[in-house]
Amino acid sequence: MSLQLSPFFPVLIFVGLLLDQTCLVSSEPQVPCFFIFGDSLVDSGNNNILKTAAKVNYPPYGIDFPKGPTGRFTNGRTAPDIIGQFLGFDNFIPPYANVTDQEISTGVNYGSGGAGIREESGRHVGDRISLPRQLLNHVKTISRISALQSNKTFTAEYLNKCIYLANIGSNDYVSNYFIPTIYNTSKIYTVDKFAVVLAEHYREQLTVHTLSHFV
Ligand SMILES: *[C@@H]1O[C@H](CO)[C@@H](O)[C@H](O)[C@H]1NC(C)=O
Ligand SMILES: *[C@@H]1O[C@H](CO)[C@@H](O)[C@H](O)[C@H]1NC(C)=O
Ligand SMILES: *[C@@H]1O[C@H](CO)[C@@H](O)[C@H](O)[C@H]1NC(C)=O
Repeated sequence: MSLQLSPFFPVLIFVGLLLDQTCLVSSEPQVPCFFIFGDSLVDSGNNNILKTAAKVNYPPYGIDFPKGPTGRFTNGRTAPDIIGQFLGFDNFIPPYANVTDQEISTGVNYGSGGAGIREESGRHVGDRISLPRQLLNHVKTISRISALQSNKTFTAEYLNKCIYLANIGSNDYVSNYFIPTIYNTSKIYTVDKFAVVLAEHYREQLTVHTLSHFV
């Protein structure tokens, strides 16, 4: 699951630039909130309650994580966990499945193992929260934050200060394009064309779809 698409790079570079200026002794986070979208590289527990083979809330997953197994697809912290710590957050950004009103204003992790940019990617593994559905969950989060802050101008300004990380796309290859017996994308697109179509779909979802819902 190491395929990377070029649209990731602007996000990662942006985070990198910010970290250069990080003052690690400060107790206030660098930004008020951090929102995370993606697949198993970022999931921190959203798949625990889904019907899927892509479930990891049992040992040895989490053996190096303070709380043990949590639904992270790793022995320890994920990259967003580490970025969140560098940004100065005291706690890990909670998974959407468990987020409380007390925590929601500092950010949410929508990641879901097996998910792709396309709705159907990963279908053969079981349930998963595709990027389109992660973005719908984000729209619900915005409504919750807006209700809690009860000032639309304030909420719009607040959300503009947040960091948004998206790491998704490898399952659109390994759990879609490269399994021609189950998925038809390789019959419709050449490899190059699929990359272009996927990147365009990604861009559309991240911009048009969500920005139109911003407060
Ligand atoms: C998250 O919620 C599920 C049920 O919705 C519960 O079983 C689980 O213990 C919760 N996890 C955490 C870390 O609170
Ligand atoms: C709402 O938030 C804006 C921006 O922070 C602020 O200027 C304004 O005074 C707030 N309105 C109320 C009614 O608190
Ligand atoms: C490809 O499969 C999808 C369902 O995953 C279906 O909606 C679509 O019509 C199919 N397209 C072709 C050209 O077979």
